[in-house]
Amino acid sequence: MKDFFEVVKGRRSVREFTPEPVSAADLEKILEAGRWAPSGKNTQPWAFVLVKSKERREALAALSRQGDLIKSAPVCLAVLLDRERGYDRDKDMQGIGACVENMFLAAHALGLGACWVGGISGSKEEAAKVLGLKKNEELVMLLLIGHPAPGERSSTRRPLEEFLREV
Ligand SMILES: Cc1cc2nc3c(=O)[nH]c(=O)nc-3n(C[C@H](O)[C@H](O)[C@H](O)COP(=O)(O)O)c2cc1C
Repeated sequence: MKDFFEVVKGRRSVREFTPEPVSAADLEKILEAGRWAPSGKNTQPWAFVLVKSKERREALAALSRQGDLIKSAPVCLAVLLDRERGYDRDKDMQGIGACVENMFLAAHALGLGACWVGGISGSKEEAAKVLGLKKNEELVMLLLIGHPAPGERSSTRRPLEEFLREV
C-alpha cells in the first residue's frame, strides 16, 4: 500500500484507459472510500448511479464535450446531489467534493486511474432522464475509472507561498 502523501501527490487525472475491467472488489473499495467521506451535519447528501447500460452511457456521452472519454472508461459513476438529504447547497457540494476526492484517491491507491468530469455541457434535464434520476436528485459530476493506459502524466501546482498568507 502506498504512503498517504505518495497517493495524494502521485495521483494524476487519467483520460486514457486500457480495456481491462475494474474488479468488483476494487470498485467496492472505491465506493467505500466515498461512503466514509465527511459531510455537513453528516447528511451524506450524495447518491451514485453506476452507468452500466451501453445505450445510457452513449446518451450521456452525447451530452458532453468529452463523450469519447465517457464512452471509453471501464467504469462511469454518476455522482448526484440528493436534495432531500442535503440542507445547504454550499455545504452539500463541499461534502460531495470530499466524497469524490476520497474515491479519486482510493482509485489511485489501488493502482487504477480516474478522471473527474465536473459536469456536462448538454441539458441537465436530459441527463436526469438518461440516468433515471428521482425528482430530488441532480447530476453533479462523473467519475470515470479504469486501468491507466501506459504513458507519462504530469501536473503542476502553485507554490504554497503564492496562496498562503497570515493575518
Ligand atoms: C471540480 C473539478 C472538475 C473537473 N472537471 C474536469 C472535466 O470536466 N474534464 C476533465 O478532463 N478533467 C476535469 N477535472 C480534472 C482537472 O483538469 C485536473 O484535476 C487538473 O488539471 C489537475 O491535474 P491532475 O488531476 O492530473 O493533478 C476536474 C477536476 C475537478 C476537481
